[in-house]
Amino acid sequence: MLPFAVEEFLRYEAPLQLLARTAARDGEVGGVPIAKGARLLVGWAAANRDPAVFPDPAAIDADRPGNRHLAFGVGLHRCLGSNVACSTIRITLEEVLRRLPDFQLVGEVERYPDAALIYSPLALPATFTPGSPG
Ligand code: HEM
Repeated sequence: MLPFAVEEFLRYEAPLQLLARTAARDGEVGGVPIAKGARLLVGWAAANRDPAVFPDPAAIDADRPGNRHLAFGVGLHRCLGSNVACSTIRITLEEVLRRLPDFQLVGEVERYPDAALIYSPLALPATFTPGSPG
């Protein structure tokens, strides 16, 4: 189930929360007028918690059908490296589970206090039995 879990983790905690854009023409989003040329910082990742698209969005569900999250953006500039990124995360998790099968979280996740664009833990307290090399 790891490939599906990776997609769900990316939906739940998108590493990139905001994207910058320049409006190519006058428009409106959610009733807010946007002038051509305006510089926008879009809280893109909020869409990953949209209950109209993701039922029970605050729950992690590795079996979520058709998980069309926006962690890699969408459209013309969608992340070119998304397949590399997903493979890297999956292999990392496989290795952690193989080497540290009994790990347990023993505290709260500490976050960067001043994180803006990039969303990432600073510390994740855990205990585990050290694995054998290789
Ligand atoms: C978990 C890891 C990653 C996340 C969350 C991520 C996220 C994103 C997002 C949200 C965008 C869209 C930016 C926008 O629309 O303005 C993007 C663009 C891009 N990403 Fe990633 N990315 C990741 C890993 C990677 C990797 C590993 C590579 C290269 C091997 C990569 C290469 C790119 C490139 C080249 C673009 C620009 C595409 C364009 O502008 O047409 N990314 N990424």
